[in-house]
Amino acid sequence: MSILAIIGGTGLDALNVLHVDKREVINTPFGEPSGPVTRGDLFGQEVLFLPRHGYNHNLPPHQVNYRANLWALREAGADSILAVAAVGGIRADMGPGRLVIPDQIVDYTWGRPSTFFEHNFDGESKPVTHIDFTEPYCEELRQCLLKAAFAGNISIVDGGTYAATQGPRLETAAEIERLERDGCHLVGMTGMPEAALARELTLCYACCAVVANWAAGKSSGIITMADIEKNLKSGMKQVSDLLESLLSFR
Ligand code: HPA
Repeated sequence: MSILAIIGGTGLDALNVLHVDKREVINTPFGEPSGPVTRGDLFGQEVLFLPRHGYNHNLPPHQVNYRANLWALREAGADSILAVAAVGGIRADMGPGRLVIPDQIVDYTWGRPSTFFEHNFDGESKPVTHIDFTEPYCEELRQCLLKAAFAGNISIVDGGTYAATQGPRLETAAEIERLERDGCHLVGMTGMPEAALARELTLCYACCAVVANWAAGKSSGIITMADIEKNLKSGMKQVSDLLESLLSFR
C-alpha cells in the first residue's frame, strides 16, 4: 500500500481532521526536519504529515531544511508527497482563495542546499547524477488531484507555472511583472528545491497551491498578513475537502 505524505504550508501547520497515531522523530544525514513526522488516519487512510515551517510556524522559507524533510518522509515510508503551499496569484484566474495544481516551475531561489548528490557527504565517492526535470511534478498524482476535485465539486485550476522566489519578503511590482514576462502564473517561496529533491529521491510529488493574495502590483494597495491569513483560512477548508475526496478513492 503506498503512503501519501502531506507537507503543510502556511495556514496548514496542523491538520485538524487527522487522527494522530504517533509522532516520529527522525534524524537524517542532512540534519533535522521541520519537526517530528506525524503518522495518522485521514479519512480512512494512513498518511504522514509534516508542517514545512514547523509546528509553531517558526521556520522561514529560506531556512527550511528541505533535504531533511524529504529524507525523513521517505524514511517514514512515504512514496508520494502532496505539497500544500500558499502562493500569490499572478494570472487573472488565480485570485485569492483559488486552488491551483501547477504543472511547471521556474526557480529563482538561491543559496539553499538543493541536491542530495553532493561529493563526499557520506564519505563515499559517487558519480555525478543529473535528474530529468522536464516535467517537475508527478503527473499521476496531479491527475488524481484533478479527479478528486471534480468528484468533490471543488473548483480548481489545472496547470500553471510556479515561480519559486527566495523570500521571506514579498516581491516588488516590477519583479512580478518580470515573472509574468517569464511565463509564470503564481508565485511562492517554498516550491524549490522541494520539488527537485523529491525527484532525486524518486518520490511522486505534486503541489496544491492555495492563492493567499494577489501578487504585488496585481491589486491596489499593499499586501497585508491579515489578508493573507483570511484567504488562507477559506482556502484550507477547500484543501481539506480535496483531501477527503482524494483519499476516498485512492
Ligand atoms: N509571493 C511569494 N510567496 C507568497 C505570496 C506572494 O505574493 N503569497 C503567499 N506566498
